[in-house]
Amino acid sequence: MAEHDLMEKLVSLSKRRGFVFQSSEIYGGTGSVWDYGPLGVELKRNVKERWWSRMVHQRDDVEGLDAAILMHPRVWEASGHVEGFTDPLVECKTCKKRFRQDQLPMQACGRKPSKHPGEVDECELGEPRLFNLMFKTFMGPVEGDAATIFLRPETAQGSYVNFLNVQTASRQKVPFGIAQIGKAFRNEITPGNFIFRTREFEQAEMQFFVEPGSDDEWFEYWREERMAWHQSLGIRPERLRFHEHGPDELAHYAKKAVDIEYEFSFGWKELEGIHNRTDFDLARHEEYSGKRLEYIDTGVGKRFRPFVIETAVGVDRTVLVLLADAYHEEEVEGDTRVVLRLHPAVAPIKAAVFPLTKKDGQPEFARKLADELRAASIPSFYDEAGSIGRRYRRQDEAGTPFGITVDGQTAEDSSVTIRDRDTLEQVRVDAGKVRSWLLDRIHG
Ligand code: GAP
Repeated sequence: MAEHDLMEKLVSLSKRRGFVFQSSEIYGGTGSVWDYGPLGVELKRNVKERWWSRMVHQRDDVEGLDAAILMHPRVWEASGHVEGFTDPLVECKTCKKRFRQDQLPMQACGRKPSKHPGEVDECELGEPRLFNLMFKTFMGPVEGDAATIFLRPETAQGSYVNFLNVQTASRQKVPFGIAQIGKAFRNEITPGNFIFRTREFEQAEMQFFVEPGSDDEWFEYWREERMAWHQSLGIRPERLRFHEHGPDELAHYAKKAVDIEYEFSFGWKELEGIHNRTDFDLARHEEYSGKRLEYIDTGVGKRFRPFVIETAVGVDRTVLVLLADAYHEEEVEGDTRVVLRLHPAVAPIKAAVFPLTKKDGQPEFARKLADELRAASIPSFYDEAGSIGRRYRRQDEAGTPFGITVDGQTAEDSSVTIRDRDTLEQVRVDAGKVRSWLLDRIHG
């Protein structure tokens, strides 16, 4: 599917079915900020829960943290963001559009699109200037330099400044990690591609503190572990790859970095970054705060400043990958079927329950079954409106993996049919066993 086709289709499906809406749409929208609707919020929560489960609950060496978005302004001086978190911005004198200088070949003047792909021949560009991507605001009632604070552009710094708090409270020994999921804000010059690059987004980041010298080994461990997590979401493995950063690509804090990339319709792009940040951040916070940030192992009489292996994935970007990877159009009996082949574990609705007809107590039986599934925390949807074919189609678009139909035979033997969204195969299952049948497939 062509680049714009798929993104346009995803934007339209997302709005139609309630995955993602443009923020403040009735006012004409807010630039590159999006709201998650009833299905989107479930999909996003499922992604976050899968991440938290694997990164925190299933391990004994990673602790959770939920640091505040607003931090002391010195944090961002120490981290290098005040000085260095910039993009080179150029403005066109003709159309007044702003571009990232390093992305010029991909863009065209807003007034007169280039006739020559790859060039911006109609723009009259001004001098480049560095533009800091952090959002500024003021704390307290007085506006001014002394009251200036920033919306955090990454969650990571909250983990560094809390390193000793978490370590002493949890009595963890190095190596151990701190995991966080939370909002981050970047005033991107060229956001776009739906929820790929936005100005407000969520990150799931983990900082793993290790003894210097063991950092290379842990870096290898985490890159494999993170790739395995993405694959566990059902993302097609051939659309995922590693991209190792060359010396000119490395962030100022990184000794080594690898991205996990996904093949979007607009090319291979970063989904997650894994960095060896050395002791850069802890050393800088020591310098700026005057507080020691060392690990002391009294058992063996060692003290050192740990190195950090960071894993950083965008939650919204993962949602986009899941939607893009799951979207399929196919011909079924002369009709085009749009289907989201989401893994059952992340699908917003796990089962839809339908009475085949409105006769013979079928609606009552189906409603009761849907209620029982919901009571077992299996998000389920009851629908009796329209033909059974149309009801299946609506759920196919929502990514619901299982369609359960109560029919004439149900009254005789209490069995129902379960239709698989992807294979369209149907099996008969005893109504009393539907719950465990579903749980096996959702969590299995
Ligand atoms: N703490 C390291 C860090 O923030 P990053 O590569 O800048 O590293 C990590 O961000 C991940 O956050 C990216 O791989 C991407 O998935 C997501 N991300 C970054 N900027 C984003 C944006 N403007 N919109 C959506 N997601 C973004």
